[in-house]
Amino acid sequence: MELPSALRLAVDQALHGVSTAHLATATQALSQRYRNEVRDGRLHLSDTLAAQAYIAARMPATYAAIHAALAAASERLPGFAPTSLLDVGAGPGTVMWATKALWSSLQSATLLETSPAIRNIGQTLAAASGVEQIDWRDCNVRNGVDGSADLVTLAYVLDELEPGDRTKLVTSLWTATTSVLAIIEPGTTAGWRRILDARAQLTSAGAHIIAPCPHAQACPITEPDWCHFSQRVARSRLHRLAKGGEVPWEDEKFAYLIVSRTPVTPSPARVLTPPLTAKGRVELKLCQPDGTATHRLVTRKEGDSFKQARRSDWGDLF
Ligand SMILES: C[S@@+](CC[C@H](N)C(=O)[O-])C[C@H]1O[C@@H](n2cnc3c(N)ncnc32)[C@H](O)[C@@H]1O
Repeated sequence: MELPSALRLAVDQALHGVSTAHLATATQALSQRYRNEVRDGRLHLSDTLAAQAYIAARMPATYAAIHAALAAASERLPGFAPTSLLDVGAGPGTVMWATKALWSSLQSATLLETSPAIRNIGQTLAAASGVEQIDWRDCNVRNGVDGSADLVTLAYVLDELEPGDRTKLVTSLWTATTSVLAIIEPGTTAGWRRILDARAQLTSAGAHIIAPCPHAQACPITEPDWCHFSQRVARSRLHRLAKGGEVPWEDEKFAYLIVSRTPVTPSPARVLTPPLTAKGRVELKLCQPDGTATHRLVTRKEGDSFKQARRSDWGDLF
């Protein structure tokens, strides 16, 4: 997965002339804050250099994860064509770009973001997004949000909030949702636990799960295992320089939840890990519509199911 070409170009322009040594130092500092989930009252993206490091080194990965999660919603809801988006903790506008790539119907986006540094960069990038009406708001969402939209999103934000503020925010996101709400988190056990908390809260408020779970029963996964997915992200030259790595790609792990106001058609099972393929057989770990998780061995004898299993990837429906 790569950023769309218009966004890649806009990112390159926004970073033109920025010292790669400074970018690499800022990227390292940012990674440490994210990895340790530091909550010290300071924003991670508190200045221009941190915001530049974000668009160089993190935005390609969060874009890939957000795109994959929203693509799962699109697959389950073929008739969904959002015209409005409310994105909370918008950063540089990553979700808006992924939404527009998946649904050309998108006309207006309201982007709530408290950091002026990343908002400024996001506003510059957004000029090339093709979204007609974009309203960037300087807003701290700790106590909830105002407004409403067809699609409401919260990507890589819950981990930056104090635990006590998360429930309030999720309640107000649901109130703001006229159709679909998407929450995406890093694919760590802590990120998954935050998704499970939101899942419990939203299903008891009447939300219908669209993805990834094919059921609304208790999650059958137990620690030390956790439910997460992965996207391979191409690293540009600048991305590699900022990260100080040589490998031309990285794998972004993420956890997510998409819910809807209206009931959806029953879901097939979902593939929970990379399939294990051997001659004439594929082993899939599946989350099933009956609320259980299982390992299913699909052999060549099963014909079409075998063909489908061979094509299946981590995160697919089966
Ligand atoms: C990791 S970034 C994610 C940005 C974007 N959603 C993405 O996935 O690329 C988290 C963003 O949430 C913003 N944020 C954190 N706490 C916030 C709050 N209380 N109110 C508004 N924005 C907040 C941060 O400033 C940052 O831009």
